[in-house]
Amino acid sequence: MVKVITYGTYDLLHYGHIRLLERAKALGDYLIVGVTADDFDKQRGKINVRQSLMERIEAVRATGFADEVIVEEYEGQKIDDIRKYDVDIFTVGSDWVGKFDYLNEYCQVIYLPRTEGVSSSELRESDSPVRLGLVGDARFVSKLWREVPFVNGLRVAALCTRSGALSAQGRREGLTLVTEDYDGLLDAVDAVYLRSRPEEHAFQIRRALERGKHVLCESPLTLSRREGEELMALAKEKKLILMEAIKTAYATAYARLLLLVKGGRIGEVLSVDAACTSLRGPDDAAEWNGIHEWGPTALLPVFQMLGTDYRDCRIASRFRDGGHDSFTKLDFVYEHAVASVKVGDGVKTEGELIVSGTGGYLYVPAPWWKTDYFELRCEDPADNKRWFYQLDGEGIRYELVAFTRAIERGRLISDIGENVTLAIASVMESFDAKRNMVLL
Ligand code: CTP
Repeated sequence: MVKVITYGTYDLLHYGHIRLLERAKALGDYLIVGVTADDFDKQRGKINVRQSLMERIEAVRATGFADEVIVEEYEGQKIDDIRKYDVDIFTVGSDWVGKFDYLNEYCQVIYLPRTEGVSSSELRESDSPVRLGLVGDARFVSKLWREVPFVNGLRVAALCTRSGALSAQGRREGLTLVTEDYDGLLDAVDAVYLRSRPEEHAFQIRRALERGKHVLCESPLTLSRREGEELMALAKEKKLILMEAIKTAYATAYARLLLLVKGGRIGEVLSVDAACTSLRGPDDAAEWNGIHEWGPTALLPVFQMLGTDYRDCRIASRFRDGGHDSFTKLDFVYEHAVASVKVGDGVKTEGELIVSGTGGYLYVPAPWWKTDYFELRCEDPADNKRWFYQLDGEGIRYELVAFTRAIERGRLISDIGENVTLAIASVMESFDAKRNMVLL
């Protein structure tokens, strides 16, 4: 019996795939099809895959050509599979010519002509893209902008800024609209990304929602809980997406760490300690409170792991001349746990995250907020474990994918719960009111 194997993502299964599978099957008697796992695709830079692994497997099965479907999960697996299944022929489309010649050592390699004129990427692109308007003056706008081209179905259509550097970039990129007029921007887009000053968020979000535009807004979404609740209700009423942006929530390593904690891997969590600080030039730092800049990121693991029902929150802050805090420490007391958060613009400490539990602790080295790596540390070092997950674009592009998909589906499955968003707003409110605060 001649055994044939082939691999692919098979997203939005199309005629090109079917023809490939048909010809692969005809090369032998038994066809094995390897469908790529979501994580493996992400590692390969395919972040836009629309269908889940199960949907893609079902679609391949439904063609009737595969005698067996397997999942491709790691680099180098092809050699393992060829040996394990005693494969005679490896085949893929001609877009891969030369790439798999190294497999000739293990079996015959055949490249089949690719079907012209159709691809999953094109099918994903063909829907009319969401026109995104960028709003803000901070350099971070530029960072987010660089990530947009990685996301199918999203394009930057306009820019609203007071920054000379960003305006110049807008003109270089050939944007048709670069303006200081927020209402003018709203007319030209389907959705906005807000990286304006936190005091402007509530007004700008309301305005966008009232005009029927979706909103992705850097955290803190609002500086008061009530405003946050009102805007969330407005978004629901208008059937629009309102999403808070904290890129760390979309980093795979962070998301997996959270699952381990929720799954009880370190027992009961007794303490969460997070620090995020930076020493930056006066241009950005002077504009922002340290707590606004870093607070939401540092608060994210606290609220996601321990919940938002804390008993007490004490704040110690140091303010600089302009009235902005350069360092803030928040201490939370829960019924059965504690948390501490250190943030600052103008102070530097080890930017690590430690989650302590009754069965061990999880350690994420600095800078934990853009991590690809973490460790489980136990009493017996032999039980320690390490995890690594590739992080592309600091998580921003995954965040943009989540936003775009939410708009397409008309439903937000956010990695940040509404209760977390509102708890962050509450902390900002306490901070502004200097509630429970000691001045350093
Ligand atoms: N294939 C083909 N003809 C096409 C598209 C794909 O023969 N028009 C083949 C590929 O060469 C590969 C298999 O089908 O052997 C699975 O390809 P996959 O990467 O899943 O599909 P693409 O449409 O190429 O996806 P993308 O656009 O995301 O790269």
